[in-house]
Amino acid sequence: MARRTSLVTGGTGGLGTAVVRALLARGDRVWVPWIVADERDRLAATVDAGSALTLVEADVTDPRRLDALAGRLGDEAGGLDVLCNLVGGFTMAPLGDTTDDDWERMMALNARSVFAATRAMAPLLASSGRGRVVNVAAAPAVHGGGGGMVAYTASKGAVVALTRALADELGDDGVSVNAVAPTTIDTGANRRAMPDADRSRWVTPEEIASLLVWLTGDDARVVTGNVVVLGR
Ligand SMILES: NC(=O)c1ccc[n+]([C@@H]2O[C@H](COP(=O)([O-])OP(=O)(O)OC[C@H]3O[C@@H](n4cnc5c(N)ncnc54)[C@H](OP(=O)(O)O)[C@@H]3O)[C@@H](O)[C@H]2O)c1
Repeated sequence: MARRTSLVTGGTGGLGTAVVRALLARGDRVWVPWIVADERDRLAATVDAGSALTLVEADVTDPRRLDALAGRLGDEAGGLDVLCNLVGGFTMAPLGDTTDDDWERMMALNARSVFAATRAMAPLLASSGRGRVVNVAAAPAVHGGGGGMVAYTASKGAVVALTRALADELGDDGVSVNAVAPTTIDTGANRRAMPDADRSRWVTPEEIASLLVWLTGDDARVVTGNVVVLGR
């Protein structure tokens, strides 16, 4: 099988770094959009991938940037096989303290980013013949427990619904669409924010990355429209 080209939005983040590393280990050419130069440099130094990693300045909530990125993928990489939609954010507040801005920000970062990136990349993925999309939802959006973080949970609920709708729509083009829905991920940021938490219940970035590699590989050809909860 020819090498895959994969696009990992949020590839500079806590989960993203592990996903980029795992896809590179499979032999993929990996493209990562970035918005903060320090994070771009940290990823490049961490994974040390040489020419297999392409870093592109692009805000994935901006459709013009996404269209330009799709153009570059078509011209320079010859297309796109895998889209991992990892960009996302978190906010926590009681309902009465949740502002309209909180709501809009969660919807933009968590839901619109998935919608906009998938819309921009869908033609390339359809041409691939083995197109795959994996989104990142969150466990409370699937099995409850989202009290105190309603804007976040609602935006991740939109990712769950988007995953199923996109699987229906893109299935005719041979593109599969699935989502992972982690509980708390064992990232450096979470360790710093919750130093006394019981981390045995968390899921590691590497465990999620390993599932993403499988979901975007040949063995998952007929797996689509699923949301896999990870963590306890
Ligand atoms: N952490 C958890 O416990 C947890 C649990 C369940 C689900 N999730 C989900 O898992 C995903 C990854 O989480 P994480 O903990 O790895 O988050 P993270 O470390 O904050 O990573 C998010 C990444 O997205 C990038 N990003 C943000 N806005 C962007 C934009 N507009 N355009 C391009 N890139 C942008 C960030 O770049 P910069 O760093 O440069 O700003 C960062 O690299 C998210 O969707 C999150 O909601 C996380």
